[in-house]
Amino acid sequence: MSRYTSPTWYKDAVFYQIYVRAFKDGNDDGHGDFKGLLSKLDYLQQLGVDCVWIMPMFPSPLVDDGYDVADYRNIIEDYGTLEDFKAVVDGLHQRGMKVIVDIVVNHTSDQHPWFIESRSSRQSPLRDWYVWSETDQKYRDARIIFLDTLDSNWTFDPISGEYYWHRFYSQQPDLNYDNPEVQQEMLNIIDFWMELGIDGFRVDAVPYLFEREGTNCENLPETHAYVRRMRAHVEAKWPGRILLAEANQWPEDVRAYFGDPGAEEFHMAFHFPIMPRLYLALKQQTRKSIVDIMNRTPSIPPCAQWCVFLRNHDELTLEMVTEEERQYMWEQYAPEPRMRLNLGIRRRLAPLLDNDTRRIRLLNALLFTLPGSPIIYYGDEIGMGDNIWLDDRNGVRTPMQWDFNKHGGFSEADDLYAPAISDEVYGYQRVNVVQQQANPESLWYTVRHMLSVRRNYRAFGRGTFEFALPENEAILGYWRALDPDDESGGEPERFLVLANLTGVEQTSELDLGAYAGIAPVDVLTGHPWSEIGAQPYLFTLPPYGYYWLRLR
Ligand code: GLC
Repeated sequence: MSRYTSPTWYKDAVFYQIYVRAFKDGNDDGHGDFKGLLSKLDYLQQLGVDCVWIMPMFPSPLVDDGYDVADYRNIIEDYGTLEDFKAVVDGLHQRGMKVIVDIVVNHTSDQHPWFIESRSSRQSPLRDWYVWSETDQKYRDARIIFLDTLDSNWTFDPISGEYYWHRFYSQQPDLNYDNPEVQQEMLNIIDFWMELGIDGFRVDAVPYLFEREGTNCENLPETHAYVRRMRAHVEAKWPGRILLAEANQWPEDVRAYFGDPGAEEFHMAFHFPIMPRLYLALKQQTRKSIVDIMNRTPSIPPCAQWCVFLRNHDELTLEMVTEEERQYMWEQYAPEPRMRLNLGIRRRLAPLLDNDTRRIRLLNALLFTLPGSPIIYYGDEIGMGDNIWLDDRNGVRTPMQWDFNKHGGFSEADDLYAPAISDEVYGYQRVNVVQQQANPESLWYTVRHMLSVRRNYRAFGRGTFEFALPENEAILGYWRALDPDDESGGEPERFLVLANLTGVEQTSELDLGAYAGIAPVDVLTGHPWSEIGAQPYLFTLPPYGYYWLRLR
């Protein structure tokens, strides 16, 4: 069975996250759209990704960039029509790629007809579709997520004279999952999009579906029960399609969202806590925090898979670090107040790493070999910059930089939804796809090369993970290994990944006695290393160097 047709295809897949508005403008109105995206599918194929994640695309007043949905069964006008979307789905499938889309289940826009009806009076037939209360004193133990803009999860509605509950902006009222009609309607919406041929969903803001007094209203048993129902529904009607959980939680809490054999929940879930620790490790020049969080990560069922990422469309979240680590991350990575947002940092990968290609390559080398399926955020494959002067998280959602032309080839329009980056370091005049595709030494080629190498093996997506820790703590080392099974066949695979987290050369040794007689080969370069003997194996890593060594 091929990577594409396997029912567990997501375990081998590399994902690519697309903000359609930013990707390519097909009708030159200043907003990216599906026509534009369609014209760039060959680009995605060249890069070598397997599955595209499309951020919210439903009609929306855009208070939270589409995470405030006003109609679950249509496409926002700026992006085109359902037919345009379908053409993108078909085009991806024809090229051997899959596609998942964002579905916002926890809340709607306050402009959604359900909410307009619900708030119209206390007797409305849809009153109970949202969470209403006479006081704003309920669920006091629930934290506020958008800390910089909100001071309560309740907002008073003057129309019907009660408060409504919202975990995000006040224009995003939470649906009431205690109402069976709400539960059923979300499953109907899932069917609507599955029928159009998509391969699954990234399910937004999962932990917050239910509220219960005396709890923090996250990860409640009721929420898990509903997720199990959703999974059973998808499994019965749409086998081979996936649900990916956005649950920004500690590993042990996310573990519960995979469920257990016979009571499955999500196929995949983001591993949030590992992400900031990759950046932390570079500044602290030690692997310690990476080792700690991986040791704290429970094993997951055989059909489940983590998703790992370096950046996404939100602030680089520091919710899953200690208070001390958060302060350190802010000091080190967000010296300007404008760089900070809520409990995070609104910057992109390249600027976070001072545009140092050694560190950018190193973090990618880890991203593609750590356990789980990697996700690339659009533009990070060419090292795009950000614009901290834009509000909210818009600074990391600027137009994709395709070439040297006006607005980086994103659009012919004069006015864009947001200006293309044009500063001296990261501007499209210097950083763009055409320029990088013309240079075999570019970041784009490095990323593409890593993906094409990764594709030859299944150990990175499916193999076991075990640390290989030399005495020198500046070096991160781990094993990824896979024995062939009925589905994959082939030879056993065993890799030793080594990474130097510092800007100076590092030397150390590992006891590899069990592999005496084998000469490891770095699969990224094809270079063989010296044969392993009975003595500890000595090795040297250049500044921020990394190796993917195959022991065969
Ligand atoms: C998720 C999204 C974020 C959005 C929030 C509310 O965290 O990633 O962009 O604002 O949900 O829907």
